[in-house]
Order: sequence, then C-alpha cells, then structure tokens
Amino acid sequence: MSDWKKSGWRAKPRIQMPDYPDEARLQEVVAQLAKYPPLVFAGEARTLREKLGSVCRGEAFLLQGGDCAESFAEFSADNLRDSFKVFLQMAMVLTFGAKMPVVKVGRVAGQMAKPRSAPTESKDGMELPSFRGDIINGFDFTPEARTPDPERMLQAYTQAAASLNLLRAFSTGGFADMHRVHAWTLGFTDRQDAERYRGMANRIQDTLDFMNAAGITAATTHEFESVDFYTSHEALLLEYEEALTRIDSISGQWLAGSGHMIWIGDRTRQPDGAHVEFCRGVQNPIGLKCGPSLTTGHLKSLMAILNPQNEPGRLTLIARFGAGSVAEHLPRLVKAVREEGANVVWSCDPMHGNTIRSATGYKTRPFESVLREVREFFAIHNAEGTIPGGVHFEMTGRDVTECTGGVRAVTDEDLSDRYHTACDPRLNASQALELAFLVAEELIPHRSVQQAVAV
Ligand code: PEP
Ligand code: CO
Repeated sequence: MSDWKKSGWRAKPRIQMPDYPDEARLQEVVAQLAKYPPLVFAGEARTLREKLGSVCRGEAFLLQGGDCAESFAEFSADNLRDSFKVFLQMAMVLTFGAKMPVVKVGRVAGQMAKPRSAPTESKDGMELPSFRGDIINGFDFTPEARTPDPERMLQAYTQAAASLNLLRAFSTGGFADMHRVHAWTLGFTDRQDAERYRGMANRIQDTLDFMNAAGITAATTHEFESVDFYTSHEALLLEYEEALTRIDSISGQWLAGSGHMIWIGDRTRQPDGAHVEFCRGVQNPIGLKCGPSLTTGHLKSLMAILNPQNEPGRLTLIARFGAGSVAEHLPRLVKAVREEGANVVWSCDPMHGNTIRSATGYKTRPFESVLREVREFFAIHNAEGTIPGGVHFEMTGRDVTECTGGVRAVTDEDLSDRYHTACDPRLNASQALELAFLVAEELIPHRSVQQAVAV
C-alpha cells in the first residue's frame, strides 16, 4: 500500500492510549522491540485469511476466544494448557457436532492492552489513572503501579513469545492429537456437561477405531494429530504494534508481527482515527467490534478503508450488542453490508454487551444473557439469509466463578469464591463447553446457509 506508513497513525487522533511520562525511555524500548523478531510470519497470516474466506462462504466456522486480558501474574504453563484444553474441547464439539471445519483463533499471546470506560479511578478519596492492562501499567492502586511504564512492553513481548512457543508445541507435538480426545476430559468432575462431552468423545473414538480397522492409518490421518491454532488480540497499543510491524519479503506487504489476527475495539473504531489508520495497512486478517453505537455510514466507510479489495477473509465483523438488542442493530448493519456487496465474516461476541454489576458488587455476565445473544444472532442471520460465521468468547480453563449461571449454577453469592479476572468476567470451562454444545447441536445445523450462498 503506497500511501501507508507504519507510523502514519501518529498523525491521526488517538484515544485509549497512555501518555508515557518518560518519552526517552519509550523511544529506547520501541527501538529495542523493533530489533526483535516478529512473533508470527506472513504466510501464517495469509493462510488464516484464506481460512476465514471459507468461513465467509459458509464452509467453515470461526471459534475465537481466550482471556479478556492476559496478565503477568497469571502467566504459567498450567494456565495456558488448561485454557488450550477447553478451547480444543469446544473446537471438537463444534467440528463433530456441526460437521464443519473450525478455524481456531485464541485471544492469547498479546491480549494485554485494555480500553477503559473512564480514564481515572477513585478510591478512598484518591484519584489514579485506570488500569489499562499489564502491557501499559499495573493493577495495584498506587501511583507507582498506575503510571504507564514502557518497560512493560518488553515483558509483554517475552510473555507473548513464550506463550506462542508453548502453544505451537501443544498444537503439533502430540497434545492436540485427536486420538487423545478422552485424555482431555481429565479434570472434569461429575457433571452433566462432562457426560455430554464423554458421549461425544466415545463417538469420535469409535470413528477413529473404525478408520483404523478399515486401513486408514498414520500417513492419511496426519490431519488428526495436530491442529492449526492462531493468535489474536486487540491492536490497541500502537507503539507496540508499530515496533513489531515488518515488511514481508514474499508479498512486499506489511505484516503486524504481534499476532496472526488483530482487531479494532468498539471504542477505537473511528474511521479517521489512529487505530483504523494502523490496521488498514497491514495484511493480517482484521476484526472490527460492532457495538450499538456503530452507524451504518461509519460501517460502510470502515469496510471501504479496511477491505478496499473486498477480499473474503480480510474483515470479520464482531457483533456485540447485548441480549435483547441484537434485533435493533444487527439488521441495519446486515443491510449496509448487503448494500455495499461487501464480503465479511459475521461473528458474535456475546460477552461485551452483557456486563452488569451483581447485587454482591462484582462485575459479572449472566450466562443466560450470553446464550440469549448467541441465539438472537443466529436467528437474525437466518431471517436475513446471511451467514452467522463465528463466535468470540472470553473464557478460561480455570474453574472460576465470574459469570453467573450455567449447568453448575454460579450464584451472585458464589462470585467471590474464585473471581480471578484481571479485567472482564470470563466463562469457566463448564460454561464454555455448554455454549459450544448449543452452537454445534442447535444453532449451526439450522443455518440457512444454502439460501445465503445463493444471494
Ligand atoms: C474486549 O474484547 O475485551 C473489548 C474491550 O471489547 P469491545 O471493544 O467490544 O468492548
Ligand atoms: Co473484555
């Protein structure tokens, strides 16, 4: 793109980004990061774009999920493994139940900068900058912790690199081998969802045994032994993103080397703003969060800016309206997409429109609302004849009590038991799996994809 520079965003209005008090140190850190290797490679981002192109055509389904914010404190091999395991279980339920390839994208290895609704927070008469994610400042309510510190970008890079390294090993080194489908049930206690998962695992095992007996073995089943797993995060901290942006020698195009897919948040999607300016110039697949305030005019401008070639798989629209509000907003945006003849993936984030404060004072999300928004999203696409192509969740492999409801009902009073999130409330393993079953067994089989393909 000849009219684009990786630093071009600096000339545009920026919001939700920190003002670093130590400008000299910021420059040093950015110069250092610019020398480090990128975390992902352009060929991988292009493959992901192609896979998302299949999602766009209704031939595959997108599963995107992970932490709201990865934290330095919770970073460990066990946490990564547990989240990856639940993610694989969800993907397995979707692939087997919906009979459809699943494109797997984690919110991981870079999801560390957060937009906030207020720039400052007050406690006991003291006002301090809000916590903006571990890549920017610290969670503790002290002036030292809350001061944006560029050094944190180096720690974030190291954590992202180590996470990606382990996830790549899990993906190809045997952990994700489908023959281990039963091993992934370890850690389940006696639960309804565990029974359901075991039932499916038995059927998968039977299928694999049958294939083995029929002589379809090692050489041809390589596909079952590893998974293609991609990373994603919100491209919010543009100094970090710019420093990891590199030219791809094969295509001559720019690549955001910080992750395979990046997205633009609901608060930073101004068509003439810094975040849109940065994202338009890199070849990675781009996500765009679409909340209730997105106008059809802005959506049309954003599609033209972010996907001028109208390539399927380049742009994923992530709808996040809140249960009960989907019918008010989704049809008008679907209409705008249709009017432009734009190729987009439609994905549903049923988390960010459903955050409430519980009676016990915790930020939570009722699981019922999460399910309801997903149902509304599918129903509207079915009515419109468009393709509900994916889902976007905040979840963790840990047995947390952050969202209320689910098979093993978490109550308002339970929230304080295991409330560990560094930001928004996440689904626990049991809730995440229940959602996967809903989508795989009830919703995808009733997609009116045929009709959509004909449009
Ligand atoms: C998020 O995905 O964590 C987030 C902040 O989402 P949104 O921009 O949709 O509010
Ligand atoms: Co969030």
